[in-house]
Order: sequence, then C-alpha cells, then structure tokens
Amino acid sequence: MSEPTGATRRRGPFKVGDQVQLTDPKGRHYTFTLEAGKNYHTHKGAFPHDELIGAPEGTVVRTTGNVPYLALRPLLPDYVLSMPRGAAVIYPKDAGQILAMADIFAGARVVEAGVGSGALSTYLLRAVGDTGTLASYERRQDFADIARGNVERYFGGPHPAWKLTVGDLQDNLVETDVDRVILDMLAPWECLDVAAKALVPGGLVCCYVATTTQMSRTVEALREHGAYTEPQAWETMVRTWHLEGLAVRPDHRMIGHTGFLLTARRMADGVEPPLRQRRPAKGAYGEDFDNDKPTQLSLAERAAARAAAKAATPVIEQD
Ligand SMILES: C[S@@+](CC[C@H](N)C(=O)[O-])C[C@H]1O[C@@H](n2cnc3c(N)ncnc32)[C@H](O)[C@@H]1O
Repeated sequence: MSEPTGATRRRGPFKVGDQVQLTDPKGRHYTFTLEAGKNYHTHKGAFPHDELIGAPEGTVVRTTGNVPYLALRPLLPDYVLSMPRGAAVIYPKDAGQILAMADIFAGARVVEAGVGSGALSTYLLRAVGDTGTLASYERRQDFADIARGNVERYFGGPHPAWKLTVGDLQDNLVETDVDRVILDMLAPWECLDVAAKALVPGGLVCCYVATTTQMSRTVEALREHGAYTEPQAWETMVRTWHLEGLAVRPDHRMIGHTGFLLTARRMADGVEPPLRQRRPAKGAYGEDFDNDKPTQLSLAERAAARAAAKAATPVIEQD
C-alpha cells in the first residue's frame, strides 16, 4: 500500500530535502532544509549537513565552536509558526479545535477561505488525506503564492487533494456536495449564502473570527439566513507550564487571545430551524441593536423583548 502524501518525509533517518529543526542550548529553534555538501552556519561555528544525512532524528550535532544542537524534524505546529507568512496564521491550538469540532474526517470534501499563509490548509490536507478534497479560495495572489510554497514545501510537492483558487469565495465557489466550509476572514457573513448552497444537508460551517463584533454579526447572519441550525461559539485558552524541581507552575506569559470559533450545521432544503424557546436576554436587542443587521428574531419578537426590558427597568421617582 502506498504511503499518504508527505508521510515518508515524517519518519526514518534524515534525507536530502528534509526540514530539520535545530534546538540550541537556550531552547531556541532554527529550521533549514538538508542539502548534500552544504554547511549550516551559526553564531558559534558551522557543521556540515552531511553529518545529519542518514542520521536518526534526535541526533545531537556539534558546531566547530563545540556548541551542541539537537536535530529533529519540525512538527506541524513548529512548521506553521516558522514558515514565511503573508497573513497571520491560525495558531495550532485553534487549528486543533477546528479539526476536532468541525469534525474534519479522512475523505471529507472541504472548502476553505481565505488561505492566508496556508497554515490551516496544511492541517486540513493532512486530515482529509489523499482521498478527500480541499478547495481553498484566497482573494490575494501574493498570499496564495506564499501559501502554495508553504504547503508544497511541507508535503514535498503538490498535494493530490488540493485545489487553490485566487478570487473571492462568494464570487468563485463552484463546489457542491461539500461536507465542511471553513471561513477565516474579516467578513465571513458575506460568504454564508454561497456556503449554504455548497453544503450537503448536515454539513457544517465553521468561522474563525478575531473580535466579538465579528462574532456577533456572524451569529446574527447565520440565524437570519434560515438554512443553518443555531450557531455555537467558543474560544480556547492554552496555558503552558514551567517545570523545574518544586517550581511547577503556569508560565508567567501566555497567548491571551487569538480568536473565536463558531459552528452551525446545514439544515435540509426547505426545513426551517425551530425557533429558539429561550427568551432573549433583557436588552439583547435593545435600542442600540442595529435592526438592519440580520437576526432570526422577528420584528414583533424584538419589539416584545424591548417592551419587556423597559417594563423591568426600575423607575426612579424624581421630586
Ligand atoms: C487571516 S488570513 C487566513 C489565514 C489562514 N487561515 C492561515 O492559517 O494561514 C485571512 C485571509 O482571507 C483572505 N480573504 C478575506 N476575504 C476573503 C474572501 N471573501 N474570499 C477569499 N479570501 C478572502 C485575505 O486576503 C487573507 O489572506
């Protein structure tokens, strides 16, 4: 049985063309590609690539200045954080959430926009595998070029499941019978209609947004659209730990914020999502709520919510 694309580059002794991640005595990382006959230069001397070619991962090489460097292949989380960037990449903690919570499976038909630097595309391609499809849309040619370079360097060439289109998703999406649509862009609400047309019943849309205002607008647009179930939203925080003897505690610094994730499922055609039973919280659709922005609540329901909020507001008698 042939190996899935890229798998042979992830195991066995180091080969020409492999990515190597060096760790110096201070824990800093450096990444390079192995080439026969070349030298790798550091501030503390150099060593020949040939010393690593044929050696197992986890080897320690010493520079001419006798400084030890640990050599391993970068993991995908290492690779995406060190590769060239056009746009900001999705952090590994969020990519992991997307793979798990958007239920990306081997053989799935997935659409993604935008592509940015191609970090999420690489995770998605590994998850759908050679038998799935990933159709990625990116509006900027320069970012698409960077993403293609990053993805192909990771897999050692083109991935058979990947199609990259330059253009806005909402104007170019041609796929149908799609299982999952993943949106990482400023205005995902502009793409919800084309996503609904592409998705199979039971399919899932997943949006990654950086701010609460984007999250709110996306949620209300999903509700208003009518083809989606009630959306769910969450964020994740990952706290790394300092581990030294009895000094075992959370690290002082952490990545405090990356973004929010939202998911909703595609209803069957012609089926309306059941109205929410819960009453909206007082003030949720108050005077400040922009009625031009979409919401699943009818105008009458919004008026009732406002009246209820007003009735519950204590009246302060003035002399
Ligand atoms: C934050 S980046 C995506 C990062 C990417 N997920 C990664 O992990 O590397 C957002 C990208 O969306 C693109 N974009 C924004 N709106 C778009 C649209 N409607 N269709 C296609 N691409 C879009 C932008 O040009 C930008 O490159």
